[in-house]
Amino acid sequence: MAGCSAPGKLILFGEHAVVFGEPALSTAVDLRAEVYARPHDEWLADGRPIDDPRYAYVKAAVEKAGETSPLWLEVRSALPEGSGLGSSAAVTVATLGAVHGRRGSIDPGKIAREAFEVELAVQGRASPIDTTTATAGGAILAAPDKEDNLLWSMERDGRRWFLHHRKLPAMDLVVGFTGVNAPTGPLVAKVRDLVDGKPEARRWIEEIGDITIQGLRALQGKDWKVAGALMDRDHELLNKLGVGHPLLDKLVVAARSTSFGAKLTGAGGGGSMIALTDRPEETASGIAAAGGRAFIVHAEPRGAMVLP
Ligand code: MEV
Repeated sequence: MAGCSAPGKLILFGEHAVVFGEPALSTAVDLRAEVYARPHDEWLADGRPIDDPRYAYVKAAVEKAGETSPLWLEVRSALPEGSGLGSSAAVTVATLGAVHGRRGSIDPGKIAREAFEVELAVQGRASPIDTTTATAGGAILAAPDKEDNLLWSMERDGRRWFLHHRKLPAMDLVVGFTGVNAPTGPLVAKVRDLVDGKPEARRWIEEIGDITIQGLRALQGKDWKVAGALMDRDHELLNKLGVGHPLLDKLVVAARSTSFGAKLTGAGGGGSMIALTDRPEETASGIAAAGGRAFIVHAEPRGAMVLP
């Protein structure tokens, strides 16, 4: 039996805009997915046929890893699916890690590249930020140009992303999950249609890119008030892009009275919001009282790890 675990993620700034090549900033979080693989006489995932649509990422990952002998796979995830916390990226990376890990040590650059290709195949359009965060852990800046602490770069359809590690100070983040599962693919497609048809939307995308760079500086300088205000504006712009949800707004409003700022995180359309706060318990209670599933998360420096 070989296994691999990979972390979930939060996008702090820049979701959706990053698909258009704008910068985005994410952090891995201490909620992980684990996948175990062992030889078997047919392909099964958690005892079910691997063709079951709920295992689309797992199936695409074993194919991408070039595995031809059937495996019994077990998938354990602390990340609710469709929650905006990077469940599919973590499961994809952990599956690739479990399959490659059976043949020896894993190469993070190769896993990140293959995981991005899996996400593109299953989701349609995507950026490599989720899969890189699940592979490398820590805080990740996706940017259109090469900067210091470069991990790797990836290209797709004439667009190039440079993925870097960034150091962020410790901060208190509270997640509020709406309980509404929202698959990423259709939301990414919705934003693309809006941007194609509405020149104003292209400016919102660019503004989100600017917010990401300012937000990174504010977080690194521990200027929580500025970072929070930028999160609030990012949330407004994401709503304009059509990826909001009434429950997300409700949770964001509930969180703001005890936090520096709050925004949806990930693809939106449901999923989760995050709040930057120095009163995490109070913020979590506020989110729960407004109907969200609240949890306090911590940054996770560790990326994909082979399990014994
Ligand atoms: C989803 O976590 C982030 C999006 O920007 C999609 C992507 O980057 O692939 C919405």
